[in-house]
This record gives sequence, C-alpha cells and structure tokens, in this order.
Amino acid sequence: MSRRRVGFCLSDKKRRQINLVAFAELCASHSVEVVEVNLSQPLESQGPFAVIVHKLSDVIVKAEYDSQSQQLLDNFQGYVSTHPHTVLLDPLPAMSQLLDRFASYRIMSQLQNSLRDWRISSPPYLEISTSDLSVIQQDVESKGLSFPLICKTRVAHGSCSHDMSLIFSMAGLSEAHPPCVLQSFVNHGAVLHKVFVVGEDHFTVERPSLKNFPPGPYERKTIFFNSHEVSKPESCSHLTALDEEVSRLPPPSGEAMVALVRELRAELGMALFGVDVIVNINTHTLTIIDINIFPGYEGVPQFFSSLLSHIESVLDHQELKVPQATCPSAPSAPQADL
Ligand SMILES: Nc1ncnc2c1ncn2[C@@H]1O[C@H](COP(=O)(O)OP(=O)(O)O)[C@@H](O)[C@H]1O
Ligand SMILES: [Mg+2]
Repeated sequence: MSRRRVGFCLSDKKRRQINLVAFAELCASHSVEVVEVNLSQPLESQGPFAVIVHKLSDVIVKAEYDSQSQQLLDNFQGYVSTHPHTVLLDPLPAMSQLLDRFASYRIMSQLQNSLRDWRISSPPYLEISTSDLSVIQQDVESKGLSFPLICKTRVAHGSCSHDMSLIFSMAGLSEAHPPCVLQSFVNHGAVLHKVFVVGEDHFTVERPSLKNFPPGPYERKTIFFNSHEVSKPESCSHLTALDEEVSRLPPPSGEAMVALVRELRAELGMALFGVDVIVNINTHTLTIIDINIFPGYEGVPQFFSSLLSHIESVLDHQELKVPQATCPSAPSAPQADL
C-alpha cells in the first residue's frame, strides 16, 4: 500500500478549493492512499510517499523574507532530495519561475516562436525595474508598445499580485510602480478562455474578461482593478460589460489548443497548470496572457478523475522503474487526518 501513498501538501486556500476527503475516497477505491502532509512535522515519519502533490506558492514567496517559511521549504526540499523516487507534482524550480512574471513572460514570448504556425502569440511587454518616468517612457516608445497598457506586479502570487491597472497614455505611466510588467492590452471581446491542464488532459472553460478599449494613446484616467473582480466565474463588473454590440468570435480551435498545451507541458515540465488565452478580435490570433501554477479547476467536473488517472500513470511508471526491493517499507506513523 505504501508504494501507492500520495501526499498532499496544500495551502489553506487550496485546501478550501479541493475536497480532499472526497478525492481520498475515490483514490482508495483504486488502492491509492492519500494523506495530508504536515509541513511543520518531519516528512520522514509521514512518508514514504510515492508522489507528493503540492502547492507551496505561499511558502516559496514568504521564504524570501521569513525565516520560518524558509525553514519549512528547506525541510521539504531536504526530503525531496533524499527521496529521489518520490515524484513531485510539480518540480519546485518549474513552479517557482511562474511566481515571477518577468520569468513567465519570457517563457510566453519564447513560446510564440515555436507556435507561430498556429498563430499563437503573447502581447509585447516590458519589464519595469525603475521608477524613473522618462526611462519608462523611452522604453515604451522604443519597444513600440501600444496603449492601452496593462500593468501587473512582478510577483504573480498573493493578494496584491492581482491588483492591476490600465494605463492610456505616456503621462499615465507615472502610475506604474516597479517592479512590474507593462503589457499591451489586446481587445478580445471580454471573453477569457481558461485552459486547465492535468497531465495529458486539458479542459477549457470560458470566463468573463475585460471589455474592449479604443486603441490609444489618449487622455483618460488610469483604471485600477483587481483581476478577481473581472475573471472569476462569479465576476460581475462594469469593466467586463462591452460598450458596443459585437458578434461573438468562434472559440479557439481545438487543434491549436492541443499544440499550445503540448508545447507548454514540455517547456515547463509540469503536470498541473493553467493557461489564460484570449482571442484578438482584429486578427483572431490566440493570445496567451498568463500561466498559472496548480489552478482552481473551477468548472472542470472531471478534475478528480483526471488527477487520479494521472497519479496512477505516474505510479505505474514508477513501479517499472523502481524494483520492489528498493521500495521504502510501510511506515508505522499514523495517517494524517483527512
Ligand atoms: N494583455 C491583456 N490584454 C487584455 N486583457 C488582459 C491582458 N492581460 C490581462 N488581461 C485581463 O486581466 C485579467 C487578469 O490578468 P492575468 O494576467 O490573468 O492576471 P492574474 O494573475 O490576476 O490572473 C485577465 O483575466 C484578463 O481579463
Ligand atoms: Mg489569470
């Protein structure tokens, strides 16, 4: 049984999102044991784990300035490095890079090259590390970024990371506070396509999104907003109500989505991630605007069955690779409360 023990190490928010008790029941019927990992206790006595599914974004971000979080992360990393047969969903370095928009936007723009044939792109953007307005203005000009610009914090995780602004002119750039990214706003008819990936599967759901804006630059006050107000399933904001009647664009082609997910999966080396895609209303180009670590999978009823089948395929693969003799034996530690 211990060879099929899967540890879940989730943030409080994630724990509220996922009904781990229901998932554990489903797993038990497939002889897969699910235990909740307590990060502040030695992992050794909670294991051995064949797989650990985790979302440690809070801990990774906090570890930058908080020694207790750093300690938790060190303990976790220590366990992982001394248990090379434990499969991490997903690898820490791959996840960490997505917490930094400077890094994730570089990945998105590289992706454009490999996906050009599919007419998949990502909007032009700038990394802003200075508060010198004239330098920012020059950079915007020389990079040829078109207004409106959407300004997002460099850190992509935590409540403040969803505070964004729409800037309409060179003068408005005084409200871009570093470190942040400035990205050209793409009119997309207020429809967001959220792509949720689980191993080899992916699922797409539609969400509300920001309305169209006339191409700038022009005099208009910067609009400050929180992305949760605009792109959650329940979002209802004046910013998502289109000002004009527009015919709905056809949804992104399934084949293009398959190509996008295949490429990203290989590039990131991750199994649990999400991609936000919009369709440019003028060119119909699929445009990637965000990549998310272990997203909420809201609106994906197949999430549990898909996650279980991914875990089972990891376990099957592992059983082929790890001979029985070298497998860790069953622990005496009690199972964490679920
Ligand atoms: N370049 C863009 N063009 C048009 N709309 C955008 C662009 N970038 C973001 N948005 C809008 O802002 C929302 C939040 O942006 P996103 O980068 O996904 O941040 P978050 O990390 O908060 O999800 C998106 O869901 C979309 O509605
Ligand atoms: Mg997003």
